[in-house]
Amino acid sequence: MSNHYNFNITNPEIETQIDDLMAQMTLEEKVGQTVQAHVNHDNAEEMIARLRKGQIGSILTIFEIEHINRAQKIAVEESRLGIPLLVGCDVIHGLRTIFPIPLANSCTWDPDLVEAAAHIYAEEAIAQGIHWSFAPMIDITRDPRWGRIAEGAGEDPFLGAAMAAAQVRGFQSPLSNGRKLTACPKHYCAYGWAEAGKDYNSTDLSERTLRDIVLPPFKAAFEAGAGTTMSAFNDISGIPATANEFTLRQILRDEWGFKGIVVSDWNSVGELIPHGFAADLKEAAKRAFLAGVELDMASDGYHTHLADLIREGVVPEKRLDEAVRRVLRLKFALGLFENAQTDPAGSLPALLKPAYREKALEAATKSMVLLKNDDNLLPLQPKKIKRLAVIGPLADDHYEILGSWSWTGQAEDSETILQGLQQVLPPTVEIVTAPGCDLKGETEPDFEVAVTAAKDADFAVLVVGESQDMSGEAHNRTQLGLPGHQQALLEAVHATGTPVVVVLLSGRPLVIPWMAENISAILQAWQGGIRTGRSVADLLVGNANPSGKLTATWPRSVGQIPIYYYYKNTGRPAAGPGTKQFDDPFRTIYLDEEVSPQFPFGFGLSYSEFEYANLQINKKVVNLQDPLAISVEVTNSSTVAGDEIVQLYVRDLVGEVTRPVKELKGFQRVHLEASETKTVQIEVPVQSLGFHGLDMTYKVEPGDFKVWVGPNSVEGLEGSFTVRANL
Ligand code: NOJ
Repeated sequence: MSNHYNFNITNPEIETQIDDLMAQMTLEEKVGQTVQAHVNHDNAEEMIARLRKGQIGSILTIFEIEHINRAQKIAVEESRLGIPLLVGCDVIHGLRTIFPIPLANSCTWDPDLVEAAAHIYAEEAIAQGIHWSFAPMIDITRDPRWGRIAEGAGEDPFLGAAMAAAQVRGFQSPLSNGRKLTACPKHYCAYGWAEAGKDYNSTDLSERTLRDIVLPPFKAAFEAGAGTTMSAFNDISGIPATANEFTLRQILRDEWGFKGIVVSDWNSVGELIPHGFAADLKEAAKRAFLAGVELDMASDGYHTHLADLIREGVVPEKRLDEAVRRVLRLKFALGLFENAQTDPAGSLPALLKPAYREKALEAATKSMVLLKNDDNLLPLQPKKIKRLAVIGPLADDHYEILGSWSWTGQAEDSETILQGLQQVLPPTVEIVTAPGCDLKGETEPDFEVAVTAAKDADFAVLVVGESQDMSGEAHNRTQLGLPGHQQALLEAVHATGTPVVVVLLSGRPLVIPWMAENISAILQAWQGGIRTGRSVADLLVGNANPSGKLTATWPRSVGQIPIYYYYKNTGRPAAGPGTKQFDDPFRTIYLDEEVSPQFPFGFGLSYSEFEYANLQINKKVVNLQDPLAISVEVTNSSTVAGDEIVQLYVRDLVGEVTRPVKELKGFQRVHLEASETKTVQIEVPVQSLGFHGLDMTYKVEPGDFKVWVGPNSVEGLEGSFTVRANL
């Protein structure tokens, strides 16, 4: 159990200090605490003047220590009450030691590792004076067109909750310089439901889906003690998330008792105007503030209008006091009143420590997913390879592999896949390389050199995929195949007859039916951060054994989206995975495409072979309060040690509302030596088997359940149990 800080616990001593301070504050100074300002080169003079007047409570997206220290010094020494600033920044998957993108991290299914990674992000951030990271992004999504799928943990609420809590713990655990940092689970809420995968788009979903699927990661993050959250850009069934009393007040405050602060997203208060939810900035400020957004990021709506709204009696002053109290509480809890300065001497030594680079390598290696490996083409056998062709626009790339939101990272810190292979292969293997084409088809391709290199080689590694700016915020796609001329390059290299392994880099699931059909070995490497090159090389040559498993379903075609494993059975289910139902079209199917995905949720291969046997359930009939313990024997029947991610799914057969065909309720990453057998036991609290019922309260309904334990969401040993009402 980690000893992370819980910002949701109040401390009476701090409350008294807040009372004293608030008694001295003018209305304008109170409003200042609700303002988060973006200070940049162009507006620096104006912002400094506002800082001196106590009109800014927080600044963001500055990561240079000297600028942060200067701003803090002005706030503390030159404003009347000397209130320090909250300094927020997007440290999403590393500040300088860039880890894999969060979607990749989730494919490790290793919350401890993800927690350790977030702790490293925090160590590097705090040493620069940043004590608030706008992370983790915990939006569940079922749509790989949406660019921000890269930033989250995929489609599943159970895994998403585990990853959300792990990151909060990692960010908020004690830091080596004695300071504290708070996480900001975002975007609250339903941002990942963007219609048609267009970022910022409207969402329309039932309250049940909201509560059963979208909210569990948020609840877990707040239970883990997250000090803040960010209100999302989107509207939810007609009400913008940034002015949504139902989600911000009823659920967050009244039901969950969240004590931290809500910051708007960038200008999302101002954007209530184009949403058509407010006529002008004053009305926007009123609606957002009354709904429970304490801090206005970058719109200046609160700065310009909140004091007037209070003087006019439109916003009760009591509400402003509550908001200011929350902001000050966080500042006290972070220790900023004791010292807001950060020692510049600690800044550089805190970055890129060897142990951090090692952890980044571990995360990258565990995050990569072996999608195909026919005839055990991998691992490569260096002894049998005289010449290796390393081809493709991403083969020698230092930058794209960092992924979106790596803006504080540096390309020169990374090793390319070509460099990784050079490091791990013996000198007897000659490596020839050629890009073949660019990433996006912006220049004429040059297949000839690449194809000749492949022809003359014993083996070709083709490194293809997306650039980092094809996913992330505002970077959505409708074509999810290989961009530019890369598909043609792949086909040309394949036509040489030389065995080909594809290393695929992307910020999302791609649509690759031709590749899945024709290429024998495919390693999905995501955007693995600064250690991408070495981890890919280790995996290709067998220094490491692939163990990542998908956390978002890979479709066969874009037309299948949204596609996810926990769909409902419907009254006319498709007969089974992989079946085209042309015989009986009156089913939940397509005329022109299979209903099954290309690669299902939870899927990933290994160089080991794992066998599952002997599913045991501790009780066939359980009471509502009983612990359910389900075990299975997993054997590594191969000669290679490896990790298996054992997954447990249930189905509630009959409910007062319809239930999904499968729901993940447990998982465990286990290491198995060659020929080793382990009994893996997964405990499932019966209370976790519920859903939001007819009256929208959470309930576990007595009745029959099926359970599967296996290697992914479509395979596994099957059992059953019954939940009965407590006697
Ligand atoms: C907008 C993004 O949606 C959000 O995730 C980010 O934290 C803010 N900008 C601040 O950079």
